Amino acid sequence: MTKRLTDDGGHSAVEVRGLVKHYGATKALDGVDLDVRQGTVLGVLGPNGAGKTTLVRVLSTLIAPDAGSARVAGYDVLRQPRQLRRVIGLTGQYASVDEKLSGRENLYMIGRLLDLSSKDAKARADELLERFSLTEAAKRPAQEYSGGMRRRLDLAASMIGNPSVLYLDEPTTGLDPRTRNEVWAEVQRMVAEGATVLLTTQYMEEAEQLANELTVIDRGRVIANGKVAELKAKVGGRTLVIRPTDPAALTAMAAAITEAGLDGVAGATVDAKDEAVNVPILSDEQLTAVVGLLGTRGFSIAHIGTHLPSLDEVFLAITGKKTDDGAGQPSGDGNGGGDDNGSDTRSTRVDNEVEVAA
Ligand SMILES: Nc1ncnc2c1ncn2[C@@H]1O[C@H](COP(=O)(O)OP(=O)(O)OP(=O)(O)O)[C@@H](O)[C@H]1O
Ligand SMILES: [Mg+2]
Repeated sequence: MTKRLTDDGGHSAVEVRGLVKHYGATKALDGVDLDVRQGTVLGVLGPNGAGKTTLVRVLSTLIAPDAGSARVAGYDVLRQPRQLRRVIGLTGQYASVDEKLSGRENLYMIGRLLDLSSKDAKARADELLERFSLTEAAKRPAQEYSGGMRRRLDLAASMIGNPSVLYLDEPTTGLDPRTRNEVWAEVQRMVAEGATVLLTTQYMEEAEQLANELTVIDRGRVIANGKVAELKAKVGGRTLVIRPTDPAALTAMAAAITEAGLDGVAGATVDAKDEAVNVPILSDEQLTAVVGLLGTRGFSIAHIGTHLPSLDEVFLAITGKKTDDGAGQPSGDGNGGGDDNGSDTRSTRVDNEVEVAA
């Protein structure tokens, strides 16, 4: 395979064509094509069991595909695994640190495995501990680390060899918001320094924060791909959530918005349980118009927020079907939603395949 240029002329750092991987009767990957342009972040969004970890394992040379091809930084996963491993970093879905070793020892050991001299391995370990705010905990065994600290140690470990291509498999699943923001900031920094990142996630919000482009997969198949903005437009943008100071005003507030007929604002619904009015919006202008309207009508507002569509809503918009294995509720279960029985709604989903890219 020759090195290809992507549509906009950039080089593909990761190039996947027709990738297939079966586990018995389960098609973990069922003909996946994707490209990650050099210096960008591709978000791979999918529910439990979609095939995300299987994809990352193939691209890391940890498992061989049954069919198809993949090149990373120009190296073929099957024919040039050793060269390929030298240019990648991997933060797996499950922390891979040695529990008994300290943070510093873990990083030192990996540096040595990557052929750094003892002096260089120590220096690199200390540099990364500092960068990931682990200097204070450096000498404590990893088993005493919190979930967020382990994730940071894992990320630090994947950076030791200065990889040009980084795989992050659900890097923030199970983390509290503060730690998640720290991980996001670190990923953004890596990208600013020139890394190419393939990031798997179950969170639309994470994809929007970090990714330039998105590939949505389900049951081993790509069901949509394109720029994040295109996909968001496809699924209907954000929901504006407004809580009136007086819950008795909910109905009147929703009616005022619906009846105003603001440009592009279809209407508002009442969420009685949340004591909020929900308004689907596509732009900041629409947000401003709705809030402005409520001000002129004299409504007193206690809270305003927006939220992105959940993975469930994304799937619903793309496929016309709900995910049936609890998307957006990461299970932390190693086998994911391994309930593949080949029947139910999945065959119809293929018929509804949508190409979001322009
Ligand atoms: N080692 C394995 N043996 C058998 N089946 C497997 C194995 N690894 C994965 N599978 C199956 O392949 C499918 C894809 O799994 P994979 O772990 O790639 O999904 P995932 O998208 O990473 O899910 P999650 O979000 O839960 O991590 C699932 O049906 C899973 O049960
Ligand atoms: Mg996984």
